[in-house]
Amino acid sequence: MDENPAEMRETMKKRVISTELMEEDYKVENSLRPKFLSDYIGQEKAKGNLKVYIEAARARKEALDHVLLYGPPGLGKTTLAGIIANEMDVNLKITSGPAIEKPGEMASILNNLQDGDLLFVDEIHRLNRQVEEVLYPAMEDYVIDIVIGKGASARSIRLDLPKFTLVGATTRAGMLTAPLRDRFGVVHRLEFYTVEELTEIIQRSARVFKVEMEEEGAVEIARRSRGTPRLANRLLKRVRDFAQVKYDGVITLKVANFALDLLEVDKLGLDNIDRAILMSMIEKFGGGPVGLDTLAVSIGEDSGTLEDVYEPYLIQNGLLARTPRGRVVTEKAYAHFGLNI
Ligand code: ADE
Repeated sequence: MDENPAEMRETMKKRVISTELMEEDYKVENSLRPKFLSDYIGQEKAKGNLKVYIEAARARKEALDHVLLYGPPGLGKTTLAGIIANEMDVNLKITSGPAIEKPGEMASILNNLQDGDLLFVDEIHRLNRQVEEVLYPAMEDYVIDIVIGKGASARSIRLDLPKFTLVGATTRAGMLTAPLRDRFGVVHRLEFYTVEELTEIIQRSARVFKVEMEEEGAVEIARRSRGTPRLANRLLKRVRDFAQVKYDGVITLKVANFALDLLEVDKLGLDNIDRAILMSMIEKFGGGPVGLDTLAVSIGEDSGTLEDVYEPYLIQNGLLARTPRGRVVTEKAYAHFGLNI
């Protein structure tokens, strides 16, 4: 690829099918987010387990055990945290790993919680070590240790906290330290959604938007949404615009195809960046095997992000495979590009 790494990263951030949360999504996601487990489509395993834990905690009138949700971006981690809070009928406080810089800030957030409250920490793998250490006794025994004074007269006092629930979310489970990971009683990996589940989500969103849509249109958007509701809803919005301006407002298969082709999201949901990753492997590395770090450098991305954010969908779709000697492009990927191995 010709672009330099910094430019490349900017492009990745802005790409239509980026699964990172964009500003426009905040508004959309808030109006579309399901509020209760019964409205939440997919993630049957996580949903089933959480339902039991929520019911049990409610019956005992206790706070729910701490929950860790991990998996690629856009699969509904924040949405689930909101649902847990609604189902438990408690307050939800939202923060994120990079937003908390000092141990005192974390201590203050914890100290201001009320009994049963749910504290959602997004990107929890990005908490710094000192901040993280405040969480250990807080999660385990609902206490924090505060140091008062300096030097020889410094002493530590222990403060009791309300019984709260921490819900942590991360796209990078491998980057969590063992002591933090071990303090979560419930750990769930969110999975990519099936085309059927995404179709249902898109149909539900279309009802919220009050836009008319034929089933084939919904299925086409679902197919190209790489298993991710955030993308499905973003693509739906774009297709709706095309339907409104260029057609008669109804989202049909023809409108969906037209709009999605223009947006350069292909039949498998791949965009320019995905295609660049696969083509770079084919053209520069003979289809692999190529090491993760080498591949990351060739596309100007850091290897952790490549591994946790971009690769999972390509692997899930059978376009790329991990082998002990490195990543390889599969026959399906060659066929997708109309190439012979
Ligand atoms: N909107 C976004 N994600 C959703 C989900 N899993 N279920 C229903 N609506 C959604």
